Amino acid sequence: MKKKILVTGGLGYIGSHCVISLLENDYEPIIIDNLSNSKIEALNRIELISHHRPKTYIEDVRDEEKLEKIFSENDIFAVIHFAGLKAVGESVEKPLMYYDNNLVSTLSLLKVMKNHNVKNLIFSSSATVYGTPKHVPIVEDDPVGETTNPYGTTKAFIERILIDVQKADKDMNIALLRYFNPIGAHPSGLIGEDPKGIPNNLMPYISQVAIGKLKQLSVFGNDYDTRDGTCIRDYIHVVDLALGHVLTIKKLEQNPGLVIYNLGTGVGTSVLELVNAFKEANNVDIPYVIAPRRAGDVSQCFASSDKAFNEIGFKAKYNIYDACRDSWNWQKKNPNGLN
Ligand code: UFG
Repeated sequence: MKKKILVTGGLGYIGSHCVISLLENDYEPIIIDNLSNSKIEALNRIELISHHRPKTYIEDVRDEEKLEKIFSENDIFAVIHFAGLKAVGESVEKPLMYYDNNLVSTLSLLKVMKNHNVKNLIFSSSATVYGTPKHVPIVEDDPVGETTNPYGTTKAFIERILIDVQKADKDMNIALLRYFNPIGAHPSGLIGEDPKGIPNNLMPYISQVAIGKLKQLSVFGNDYDTRDGTCIRDYIHVVDLALGHVLTIKKLEQNPGLVIYNLGTGVGTSVLELVNAFKEANNVDIPYVIAPRRAGDVSQCFASSDKAFNEIGFKAKYNIYDACRDSWNWQKKNPNGLN
């Protein structure tokens, strides 16, 4: 019998790649997604890639009654909790919406997991919990909580809640996975990042400039204290990130209690280096202008990935050139995203 893994937000960007990775590794993903930032077409694409159509519930994770039904109908071994709102700027404008969505969904999930004696949970956290890093590479023991926007604060709050929950129930196994900057797409070009409206993040913006939907990229600041003056981030291929979840489930199967891992590559890349990698990998032009700094951006943010390597054998296989190629392949094949 394959172990059933409930994937909240399983039709989203990272969630859909994780579903593929679970299927490839003989787990049975079950999806719950309210389509607030995803499309049902992602399920058709998952089926095209894997020749399997996972059981899917179009519901909101905050709805405890619906969750009760899902947990009663399926013998869930573990939950991977991706569902949540994630736009930094929007969270500053609408903090209540962010606290309601991200916190209430997690609380509902925890209550229903308890009712059904489900003991394993992976939470989709973010490097944003480190706020402005004191040093790079960032290690998991570095201070967290001094976040710079409500989105980041929801991630930090949820981490605290989960730490308390695990303390109170030592039989629970909880993994907090702090993602750095996911980019790239499935090599098939069938699933990828599909932002609504004008993208906030760098890679989808670059891709839309490349295809001509946007005129030029604005590089936010070239006067940072870095090698070329632009901000440095740790860009990780989404397929690598997805596999990190499978490795983490295998860890949870050994009853480790609470574990916290950075999921990054350990390599920092500047904005201009990513632009150049995209140009080189794909032989396309990316017109850009230097614009003022964006509020809230930190100069450098990249992971120490040693702990995840030592404890779960996680190591990024793909580099930024692979990710640029796969992002472009996805963009070209789906110029208007998933429809
Ligand atoms: N950038 C530009 N132009 C753009 C978009 C981004 O120059 O049009 C720059 C940003 O200033 C930053 C870098 O590209 O220096 C990366 O920006 P992203 O918005 O792609 O990513 P961030 O590092 O700001 O944010 C990401 C996630 C957040 C998370 C944060 C910290 O999107 O969810 O990392 O972990 F909170």
